[in-house]
Amino acid sequence: MTPEHNPAPQHSGAPDPFTFVPYDDLADGQRWSTWLDVEPLCRGPEPRPGWVVTGSGAIDTELGILKTGKEADVSLLQRADPRRPEESVVMAAKRYRSPEHRSFHRSAAYTEGRSMRRSRDQRAIKRKSTFGRQVAAGEWAVSEWNALVRCWQLGVPVPYPVQIDGTEILMEWITAEEETAPRLIQVRPAPALLASYLEQVRDALITLVRDGVAHGDLSPYNVLAAGERLVLIDMPQVVDLAGNPQGFDYLRRDCLVMSDWFTRRGLPVDGEALFADLVAQAW
Ligand SMILES: Nc1ncnc2c1ncn2[C@@H]1O[C@H](COP(=O)(O)OP(=O)(O)OP(=O)(O)O)[C@@H](O)[C@H]1O
Ligand SMILES: [Mg+2]
Repeated sequence: MTPEHNPAPQHSGAPDPFTFVPYDDLADGQRWSTWLDVEPLCRGPEPRPGWVVTGSGAIDTELGILKTGKEADVSLLQRADPRRPEESVVMAAKRYRSPEHRSFHRSAAYTEGRSMRRSRDQRAIKRKSTFGRQVAAGEWAVSEWNALVRCWQLGVPVPYPVQIDGTEILMEWITAEEETAPRLIQVRPAPALLASYLEQVRDALITLVRDGVAHGDLSPYNVLAAGERLVLIDMPQVVDLAGNPQGFDYLRRDCLVMSDWFTRRGLPVDGEALFADLVAQAW
């Protein structure tokens, strides 16, 4: 991009997200939007929601870390075009950590039956070289990206996947009352809402199973309560039911963990029966 694409505006005033930023004078925690830097296949599926900001003059601004996790950090990122105030959105940025400070608890068992195209990458991961760790972080990011895209296209409630760039995924920020939506573990819904949540979880599980996959790490920590709607997150480990010999074990665990939460909240659910129902739908 050249400075001509970003002509100086003729206004003054308090600095806000829409204040003109000179071409080579982005503040700390800012960058030019990476939307146009990534390959088309690294952008979210069509039809794209109207809020996705695609302009070349947009600036990404870090708004702070939402949560530091075992394998990734999730931050809020604003993408806004200073020249078009209506072009502004806050997204969740999930960034996988490559080196050292992560525990690879999601590893071999999940990926069994998956193929990795490049044997050079596979060897690097085995050697645990720096390059290998970067590749591994990227593989988890790609795996989560693919799962989000697939779920979105199937109509499973997940954050809309905006783009993937290496180890960073930008996705829809899920909110409740304009704050980050609480995790399911944090809420105590009234009986009618609880019953609706159960139907939503069941529907999501059925859709996934019919498509031949299980979430693989479903829990009240990985489901957000966006008011009346539930949204499933955190899916780098989505498991292929046919290809992974332990696929059904993961599905069963997902069922038991979720049923346990509903039961504790006062709506008894038989996890084994739920699992049996789903197995019957799988073929
Ligand atoms: N799209 C989103 N919208 C709102 N909040 C989100 C979103 N994605 C993630 N979060 C928040 O960040 C937290 C961590 O996200 P996620 O579970 O995907 O990452 P993780 O690294 O696996 O974390 P953990 O190790 O704690 O499971 C979530 O529990 C949720 O609170
Ligand atoms: Mg999580």
